[in-house]
Amino acid sequence: MQNDFFNASDAPADAVSEIRSRMERLCAEINKHAHAYYVLDNPVIPDAVYDRLFSELQALELAYPELIAPDSPTFRVGGTALPEFSQVKHAVPMLSLNNGFEDADIVAFDRRVRDGLHALMDVEYAIDLKFDGLAINLRYVDGVFTQAATRGDGFTGEDVTENVRTIRTVPLRLNLENPPAVLDVRGEVLMFKADFDKLNARQRAAGAKEFANPRNAAAGSLRQLDSKITAHRSLRFFAYGIGALEGAALPVSQRALLGWYDAMGIPVCDENAVVTGVAALLDFYRVIQEKRTLLPYEIDGVVYKVNAFVEQEILGFVSRAPRFAIAHKFPAQEALTTVLGIEVQVGRTGAITPVARLAPVFVGGVTVTNATLHNEEEIQRKDIRIGDTVSVRRAGDVIPEVIASILEKRPGDAQQFIMPTQCPVCSSPIVKLEDEAIARCSGGWIKCPAQRKGGLFHFASRKAMNIDGVGEQLIDQLVDKHVVTTAADLYKLGLASLSELDRMAEKSAGNILSAIETSKATTFARFIYALGIRHVGESTAKDLAARFGNIDALINATEEQLLAVSDVGPVVARSLQRFFSDPLNVELVRQLMASGVHWPEVQQHADAVLPLLGKTLVLTGSLPNLSRDQASELIEKNGGKVAGSVSKKTSYVVAGDDAGSKLLKAQELNIAILSEDDLIRMCQVKQDEE
Ligand code: IVH
Repeated sequence: MQNDFFNASDAPADAVSEIRSRMERLCAEINKHAHAYYVLDNPVIPDAVYDRLFSELQALELAYPELIAPDSPTFRVGGTALPEFSQVKHAVPMLSLNNGFEDADIVAFDRRVRDGLHALMDVEYAIDLKFDGLAINLRYVDGVFTQAATRGDGFTGEDVTENVRTIRTVPLRLNLENPPAVLDVRGEVLMFKADFDKLNARQRAAGAKEFANPRNAAAGSLRQLDSKITAHRSLRFFAYGIGALEGAALPVSQRALLGWYDAMGIPVCDENAVVTGVAALLDFYRVIQEKRTLLPYEIDGVVYKVNAFVEQEILGFVSRAPRFAIAHKFPAQEALTTVLGIEVQVGRTGAITPVARLAPVFVGGVTVTNATLHNEEEIQRKDIRIGDTVSVRRAGDVIPEVIASILEKRPGDAQQFIMPTQCPVCSSPIVKLEDEAIARCSGGWIKCPAQRKGGLFHFASRKAMNIDGVGEQLIDQLVDKHVVTTAADLYKLGLASLSELDRMAEKSAGNILSAIETSKATTFARFIYALGIRHVGESTAKDLAARFGNIDALINATEEQLLAVSDVGPVVARSLQRFFSDPLNVELVRQLMASGVHWPEVQQHADAVLPLLGKTLVLTGSLPNLSRDQASELIEKNGGKVAGSVSKKTSYVVAGDDAGSKLLKAQELNIAILSEDDLIRMCQVKQDEE
């Protein structure tokens, strides 16, 4: 005999109804908070409280399985694996869209629409983004999520209900008083770029295969037979269409449909618009094209739909695509081509980058013939061989990269890449530091012309010294003809040396010289950046400039002082110290400044000011209040260094009573002499400003 409620049918009726209503309340409560958390990004209760509600519901469901509600949020975590997906016949077929690429395609589409509607005026269109994911149909019966199916061939898809249930933003119950008897919501399942990056990092760490792009990752995740895996994959859903509808009136337009969805808690992307006339369609396309890389998810175009459903109905379909809609696609960003060879390039820091030479292919609006392979390990990991057919991606202004080899297309004679042991430019040995993925030419810029060229190109580049006209081709010639070795040599160029170069008219030589002259007036931050110190990018250079204010302070900075800069960690600090400990680099800085490179005094950040930064002080005699140690501490705390003897490098001598020879030496060398009071005031003033 059972004395606790193991099974609802054994329990007294009133107890059962109490438990049922508790479970219903928990479901409603959890679903409400999950919506606030996942959809609105605005959680109202702490995670711990949410977790407690969730555990309580799980425990009740375990004890009373027959009371589990069909919209229980506990289904979100995934269930038992399926042997295979079952087939689902779509109540209303899921059709595809015609594509347009050129403006002319869209103008022609609009003309067909106006003709079809016998329209005398411009037509109103609703514009959605064309999401790069997978089309899906969500079925809600009496407001409860009951089934999800992939598009499949448009007529029959696969049942992915349990997987879609794990997508947090898909409501398991619609937020409607009187839900329709049947509602088929159409939309796209996708993975956000950030989630994709995280997933691939996890895959990498686990030694598992990485996904080529967010679309593949979304598809792979949705088609998991084990929904527990899907539950860990951060998928999203955006609704854009409707299939079957029973027991409710159809909204009047695409815009109204999305508004209705939004109100019932179904996620709708807010990058949409309603416009009139074809010109406005093309305007929207360009705006989105600009914004594209900033969006958190990938899109491959926009979709124009005649807004009013009555007009959509009049226009109807041709074969399997609607006449009332068209996808205006962006130029392809990924394409297939073959690897003709793999060469290595030497960067300004000696980094050896393998580059694939490709059969020319049109991708993302340009013809690509080279793509980076990053490094040797990457080639091995992706198993890319010479002769392979590969997919190449070009996103925005990013360097094209080889994403993957198509193994099915590998020819029998495909060759593996072997990393050279010598620099192809200067023949110095190529070395690989233990903690780095990157191999480097060990020649340095003195031996290796490739590094010299890279360094000069960086020095002259727009964000560095911004020397117009000094680009790759000119630098190649200047270095190859031994006219220029270091950046300082650029400032020694004259008409005579320039006019010896190929294809150099006097006028352009003059322009280059005046650009070089103009570049002398720069900023401290640009100058630091231009030096091309490893790990010192534009923003670190700015921070360093603000913190140190002058070049001597930077050259002499201790590790501790460097680490005090917000952007600087041990790696950057070490790199800076290594750079300035090389006398050739310090000499370069001196030469550049001697040839007239200058910058206005830096406005130091209030929080960065160390009044004695870069200064060397010598203490002599006994100070009225401070002990030797206290004075030294004060100086060091304010960025200065304390030295034992006076030399030309001494910035100040702090003299007390009975000062001896050091004071005399200071007077001799014309070095400023401070009293204890002066010293305290110097530190004080700046500290007060903080
Ligand atoms: S509407 C009858 N709207 O594009 C029209 N489709 O080629 C049905 N897609 O398989 C589609 N974003 O995966 C529509 N905002 C959007 C879309 C969209 C992406 C995909 C969908 C479909 C394919 C049609």
